[in-house]
Amino acid sequence: MLFSEKRKSITTKAAGQISSGFQNTRLHHRSRKRIKELGEVFTPDAYVVDMLKLINQKNRDLWSNENIILFEPCCGHGNIVAIIYKNRLFGLYKKALQLGYENPVLYAVANALNTLWAIDIDTQNVVHSKVRLLERSLEFIKEKADISNDISVISSEPEFFAHLLCAINWHIKENETLSSLSDDKNAQTNASKTQAGQKWFQNNGHHPIDFENSWANHFQAQQADKLLPFVFKRANRFIENLLSGNGRHDVEFEFADFLIRKSTATSRRTMRTKDLATG
Ligand SMILES: C[S@@+](CC[C@H](N)C(=O)[O-])C[C@H]1O[C@@H](n2cnc3c(N)ncnc32)[C@H](O)[C@@H]1O
Repeated sequence: MLFSEKRKSITTKAAGQISSGFQNTRLHHRSRKRIKELGEVFTPDAYVVDMLKLINQKNRDLWSNENIILFEPCCGHGNIVAIIYKNRLFGLYKKALQLGYENPVLYAVANALNTLWAIDIDTQNVVHSKVRLLERSLEFIKEKADISNDISVISSEPEFFAHLLCAINWHIKENETLSSLSDDKNAQTNASKTQAGQKWFQNNGHHPIDFENSWANHFQAQQADKLLPFVFKRANRFIENLLSGNGRHDVEFEFADFLIRKSTATSRRTMRTKDLATG
């Protein structure tokens, strides 16, 4: 199973309305208030592409090396993270094809996600980033499998998609940058270097990030202890409901709510077609 493959990794530092396609990648900022409170100004795509080219010049195998872990410390609504993810998908896919790996498409998705971390202090931004990664994953798999429908593609690999939901949740999180990269002793002092960071820390506490503890590694460790993560059971149930046309909101996977609307529409269409066929 792709999501339980263990890869050795070295670290390179290198709710508003949630609906499919809602993110405006040309959005510069949402409000003056948010610029003041969060420093929220989004990087335009063209600058992101140029910045990533500079990093790529120094690390030629940046996109295809699954031993390199990438971290976006203030991800906003995902402008940088979405492009990193896209580049990783294509880099890993190309490599998997060249090396004759089994199922290069799923290999690329699993490894691109397991080596990508992103955090932001703002809940809405984190959800938006998750939606974008889920959408990009679906677009990539659909294109390569030549399938146009999200629900059909999910039904071809339901367990993989349960892992995908868990991996997005595990790697893209609400967290405070300066404290998450600090030890227990220094976390509060470091968070207090910004007003927003201090406030977040007071409400949420210290959540250090362990870049080695990817979703795949966590899942594998649980399996070794003969355990199945509870969140994985929930993800499987979410997918099952989705595929049966009875999609149900689960707060854990709110970033996948747009799929519920798609599955309901698909099952309505199927019922209408059956009605017409039976006269
Ligand atoms: C300038 S925006 C950049 C967003 C994104 N990186 C981009 O380039 O489009 C800064 C982001 O940092 C987040 N932020 C502010 N203080 C933070 C903190 N202490 N820890 C984590 N994120 C923080 C804000 O919510 C905002 O989304």
